[in-house]
Amino acid sequence: MRYAQILGTGSYLPARRMSNEDISKIVDTSDEWIAERTGIRARHLAAAGEQTSDLAVQAARAALADAKVHAEDIDLIIVATATPDMTFPATACLVQNKLGIAGCAAFDVQAVCAGFMYALVTANAYIQSGMAKKALVIGAEIFSRLLDWNDRRTCVLFGDGAGAVVLGAADKPGILHAKLKADGAYSHILNTPGKVANGEVDASPFLYMDGQAVYKFAVKALSKVGADVLLEAGMTAADVDWVIPHQANQRIIESTAKHLGIGMDKVILTVAEHGNTSAASIPLALDVGIKDGRIRRGDTLLLEGIGGGFAWGAVLLQY
Ligand code: UT7
Repeated sequence: MRYAQILGTGSYLPARRMSNEDISKIVDTSDEWIAERTGIRARHLAAAGEQTSDLAVQAARAALADAKVHAEDIDLIIVATATPDMTFPATACLVQNKLGIAGCAAFDVQAVCAGFMYALVTANAYIQSGMAKKALVIGAEIFSRLLDWNDRRTCVLFGDGAGAVVLGAADKPGILHAKLKADGAYSHILNTPGKVANGEVDASPFLYMDGQAVYKFAVKALSKVGADVLLEAGMTAADVDWVIPHQANQRIIESTAKHLGIGMDKVILTVAEHGNTSAASIPLALDVGIKDGRIRRGDTLLLEGIGGGFAWGAVLLQY
């Protein structure tokens, strides 16, 4: 059996940190409201000249160094992003070029906050089928540029950043099992409708979210997909060493963990310092948990993400 194994991880946060106090000088909000409802205390914001591919490249370089893999040995690059540098080409192609390599397959995956789940599962399929041996899978976002900074209901929630993993073909696990789901009937509760058309942006270029509808759907969907992945893999919650969830709201994470029967002492939480970084949040949290020594080689990890689409999924793996 051929598996896709995580050889290394890396992440990058832009230098500028914006605390809840800083945001309360822009819109009518408070540290108390934001922290109590979401668990967020701060987020990082990209500098004016910084592009999603720049964040992605920083995370990718760190992951390559951690994996002790040369960029030239990568034969697949997937970038999960909803905030690409351009309409086209794909951010993955720009990342490839900035890494100083050429030739390997490179494309973007668009599943918003579930993007890293979709990208990881796609790379796993390439590796299992023999179409790739070493893949760079990146989640990178600059969500701050999709926000209406006059709308306190959304601008306090998101941040910018990138996380990356290097996956390699191996005889031992690796990714054990995964499940991806989507339901386009929910596209109206979380979206950014504007697109470039006929020389202009043809609808609102700002993120819209019905927070309560998203909240309810997220807890239900994440609890179910997490439980399904465990069941189908013949495992139980007791087999999971660490849950690495999408970091949108601490209360969603806590409810999901409770439904799954997993204690919060087994959950990697970065939402306080990162905010919601969409497709970057899971690989960022994964890298934090590995680098601070909590996640160790051989540990069983459950990764879970959900976002606009709706699209969601879970990946069970042995690190
Ligand atoms: O990755 C994508 C997934 N996104 C998510 O997972 C987000 C899911 N949803 C949520 O996390 C929560 O619904 C929110 C954090 C977005 C909102 O929390 P909530 O408890 O659902 O609040 P709400 O929208 O019901 O608003 C309650 C009150 C309202 O005031 P009134 O109408 O009761 O007077 C809002 O105007 O809180 C007010 N409010 C704020 N007050 C201070 C909304 N945003 C803010 C704010 N600061 N930033």
